[in-house]
This record gives sequence, structure tokens and C-alpha cells, in this order.
Amino acid sequence: MKVLTHKPKPFVKWAGGKRQLIKILKFYLPIEYKTYIEPFVGGGALLFETLPKKAIINDINAELINAYNVIKNNVDELIESLKYHKNEKNYYYYIRSLDPDKLTPIERASRFIYLNKTCFNGLYRENSKGKFNVPFGNYKNPKIVDEENLKAISEYLNTYDIKIFNGDYKEVCELAEKGDFIYFDPPYYPLNKTASFTKYNKYDFTEKDQIELANLFKELDRKGCYILLSNSNTNFIRKLYKDYEIIELEANRFINSKGDRRGKSKIEVLIKNF
Ligand SMILES: C[S@@+](CC[C@H](N)C(=O)[O-])C[C@H]1O[C@@H](n2cnc3c(N)ncnc32)[C@H](O)[C@@H]1O
Repeated sequence: MKVLTHKPKPFVKWAGGKRQLIKILKFYLPIEYKTYIEPFVGGGALLFETLPKKAIINDINAELINAYNVIKNNVDELIESLKYHKNEKNYYYYIRSLDPDKLTPIERASRFIYLNKTCFNGLYRENSKGKFNVPFGNYKNPKIVDEENLKAISEYLNTYDIKIFNGDYKEVCELAEKGDFIYFDPPYYPLNKTASFTKYNKYDFTEKDQIELANLFKELDRKGCYILLSNSNTNFIRKLYKDYEIIELEANRFINSKGDRRGKSKIEVLIKNF
């Protein structure tokens, strides 16, 4: 049995990242399962905490998934490229202005990680044209190159059977079989329609998407998968999953561009079919 030399952690700060809920989530994991499937993987907080040996991860965000692939296949070149970046305003806006489609996969991943580490609030946000549009963060000493962690992730992705996809969540769910574990962490249904953040990219996650996801949850339940799903503690969501166990969780508010709008309350739920 292969043993990892370092424990990896998420390499990007991600809106809706699950770091603060990780202990609670771990408590609710099934004891045994076949494949671990995360169709909305984002920064992968639960993935890196759990370190399954057989997994399928997916996200619709092409920059994010390119970065996972580059960390897996070209980690040394990526680290070298990251070392060239500077935490300076003009340089930041220059890198931000580059069109990722015109860069090599390594340059793209390097740009993506650099922007994530140095942008305001570490918040990934694209405008309607799919362009990253967050202003410079002006942080004193952001850790642009976390060599040890990138290598630890690379080792993990190469040691075990981890399949990485860049598509809609429904596609990878077709691969799910009886006995697999699926953790759904979709963009949340808004607590109130103006303040919340559901737009991760040019593909919005609408009410209709939430309904389709709930239908897929039921289908996978019938198939014999173990499923956990995170979402907002709202009537709409509780109604969609009324046939399942719904656990209210205490958590800080989501990343919000106004830092003062954070606080503790039961604004999230965990839905469980096992
Ligand atoms: C709440 S975040 C997941 C956070 C993650 N659990 C973490 O720890 O960082 C939701 C993710 O869903 C992705 N997403 C949005 N719509 C999607 C879709 N239709 N299919 C797959 N992924 C999607 C977003 O890019 C985002 O990374």
C-alpha cells in the first residue's frame, strides 16, 4: 500500500469553500464506500481532508480544473512559473488582462493560482463574458508559491486513482454506481436574493438547476449511492429534500465582499440519504 509523504490541502481559496465545516462533514461520511464522487469540487476541502483512494472530481470551471490537471502532470514547471510572479498592482492587472485561452496549460494554471492568491478577498468571480474581474487585493505577503502543498497534491493525484473532469455535474453522475459516495456542494440557493453569491462563472445556477439537482439526488438514492448535499437553510431547499434527513449547521456566512456581513447562524443544511 502506497503512503503519502505529505498531507495536501486546498490550493485555492474558493467561494463556498468548506474548510470551516470540515469536521462536521467528516462526521457524517459513510464508513465504507466504493468511489468518492464530488461533482462540484471547487477548492476540494472535503476531498483533501478525506483523501479517498478512488475518486471522481469535477467542476464546470475550466481554469480551476486546468489547475488540478497541471498540478497532477507538471507540478515542477508550475512551481517554477509561479516563482516569477510579483505582488504588485500594475503587474497584477497585466496578468489579469491576459486571455487564458492564448496561454499554455502551465501558464494558465500559474495565472489562475497567482490571481487567486493576490486578488481581493481571494474571491473568484467572472463577468458575464467569462472574464476574471476581481480587483488587486493589496496583501502584504500572500503565499503565491506553496511548493510543499502543490507537491503534496501532485503526489496524491498521481498515487491514487483520481479522475478529473471539467463539465456539468450531471455528466459525472452518470458514472455513479451502487455503493459509491457522492458529495454535492452546489452553488447555494440564495438566502436572500440580492446579497448571496451564486454566480461563479458565466453559467448561473438557477432555481430550475436546484430542482434538477434534487431530482438527480433522488435518482442516485434509488440506485443505492450514499449521498450528502450542502445547501442554504431555506424553505425552498427544505421542501425539495423533505423526504430525507436534513441537518441544520451553524456556520459563518459565505465569503462576502463586505467583510462586516459575517456572523454565526444556522444558515446551512446538510442533506443525507443514509
Ligand atoms: C460551493 S462551490 C464548491 C466548494 C467546494 N466544496 C470547496 O470546498 O471549495 C460550488 C462549485 O460548483 C461549480 N459549479 C457551478 N455550476 C456547476 C455545474 N453546472 N456543474 C458543475 N460544477 C458547477 C462552481 O464552479 C463551484 O466551484
